[in-house]
Amino acid sequence: MRIPLIAGNWKMNKTVTEAVDFITQVTDKLPAPNEIETAIAAPAILLKSMMDANTGDRLQIAAENCYYENEGAYTGETSPMALKDMGLHYVIIGHSERRRYFNETDDIINRKVHAVFDNKMIPILCCDETMGRRESGEDIHWVVSQVTAALKGVSPEEAEHLIIAYEPSWAIGSGKSASADQAEDGCYLIRQTVADIYSDEIANQVRVLYGGSVNPENVSGIMNKDNIDGVLAGGASLDEKTFLQLVQYK
Ligand code: G3P
Repeated sequence: MRIPLIAGNWKMNKTVTEAVDFITQVTDKLPAPNEIETAIAAPAILLKSMMDANTGDRLQIAAENCYYENEGAYTGETSPMALKDMGLHYVIIGHSERRRYFNETDDIINRKVHAVFDNKMIPILCCDETMGRRESGEDIHWVVSQVTAALKGVSPEEAEHLIIAYEPSWAIGSGKSASADQAEDGCYLIRQTVADIYSDEIANQVRVLYGGSVNPENVSGIMNKDNIDGVLAGGASLDEKTFLQLVQYK
């Protein structure tokens, strides 16, 4: 039984004060984590204040990225070892914005996946497709190649805990979500790719999320799909009320 996960990705959109206010307002309104798991990913600069404000056990605080080394002369980077030491469990890796704006290659993303697992945390691995590839029919090969490259050398014992987010670039920030069927197709493809790499058993344990203009109006239809275990929301996670509406999708 895969526990649903409603996760937010704040990107670079909140101050420490706003982040702490959000945590304070929502934590006692969230479901028990064994019913519906909830998480908010935020920039590294906010995480310590959020962890300190997160007095309950209902909300997971996640990082949006980390480097693939634990320490060293990497000015400005965030150590996965330091994130673990802070008590984090989840780290988003390979978001399309990291790939696009910061030139993160499949090899870099694979290194980061290993670094997160090596530090006993769980990657939320993002994969995307562009509208061009969808229209040309290349989207399938692109998603499969991203997942395959990211999981190179990842053991079955690690992979079974993995969270993968299908985030078509053309739906991110556009206000135009993929349809529930399109989202299901992408998430099914990811699950099948995991089955091909490992086994059906591992594929059935991995949680697959959809991200890309999720909102209170479309979340129920998306969450109702067999191969979708949750969502990774950007804009809709910024506001306390809207985030809670996503959580109350049933
Ligand atoms: O990681 C989730 C994000 O890329 C989706 O953003 O604003 O389209 O929900 P948004």
